Amino acid sequence: MQIDIARTLYATPPTAAILISTIDKNNRNNIAPFAWWNVVSKDPPLIAVSIKPTTHTYRIIKEKAEFTIGIPEPGLLDAVYQSAQLDRESDEFGKLGLTAVSPSKITSPKIKECQVNIECRFRNEFECGDHFLIIGEVVAVDVRDELVHEDDAVMRNNLTPLAHITGNKFITMEGTILEASAPQTGGKSGKEKHDEPITHRHYYSIIFLFSP
Ligand SMILES: Cc1cc2nc3c(=O)[nH]c(=O)nc-3n(C[C@H](O)[C@H](O)[C@H](O)COP(=O)(O)O)c2cc1C
Repeated sequence: MQIDIARTLYATPPTAAILISTIDKNNRNNIAPFAWWNVVSKDPPLIAVSIKPTTHTYRIIKEKAEFTIGIPEPGLLDAVYQSAQLDRESDEFGKLGLTAVSPSKITSPKIKECQVNIECRFRNEFECGDHFLIIGEVVAVDVRDELVHEDDAVMRNNLTPLAHITGNKFITMEGTILEASAPQTGGKSGKEKHDEPITHRHYYSIIFLFSP
């Protein structure tokens, strides 16, 4: 069945949500969730994230030329969702119940509660329609001890990402669909509305995502 091309996103499998942590020139932390991202080069290791230029994250990345990616687990469901909706707070970590940890190579804090933290230096960007594709060069990666084999290889199958379906709906690797709670206080002005209804097509996407 043909669908409206405006709904292309909803014909693609859900991707793992990440938290991007940045710190501006006045030392104010910012955390926000992103799902349009991927590793795009192995040597050097590069990660691309598609970010709206109206976000604080975009502005701070351009200002500081760095960012840290945290990969959250299902236990961080509400923090992931609510981080998109906070007013610009001076203590976004505190509001979200997260802990800032000193990074090793840059200044954007790592997130203690994330299973993986990846420090990136801004490398370049490409305008992509209403988003900008930000390319970050990985300068440090910190993973939980239990994710690493004796031979230093990360056990990818032990990662427990939270893939974003749409709106407040996420799905775990086991196929459990979770619904995040909205923040108790008002949201960001101009925040993205994630209000697309779930249809059977999303479930087909989920099946593709977790098929070998
Ligand atoms: C799970 C989830 C995934 C998101 N993915 C993206 C994304 O890939 N790119 C983007 O520009 N915005 C994305 N958003 C919306 C941003 O998180 C939102 O605009 C947020 O308010 C940006 O925060 P900031 O202004 O503090 O950077 C996503 C939101 C959620 C809840």
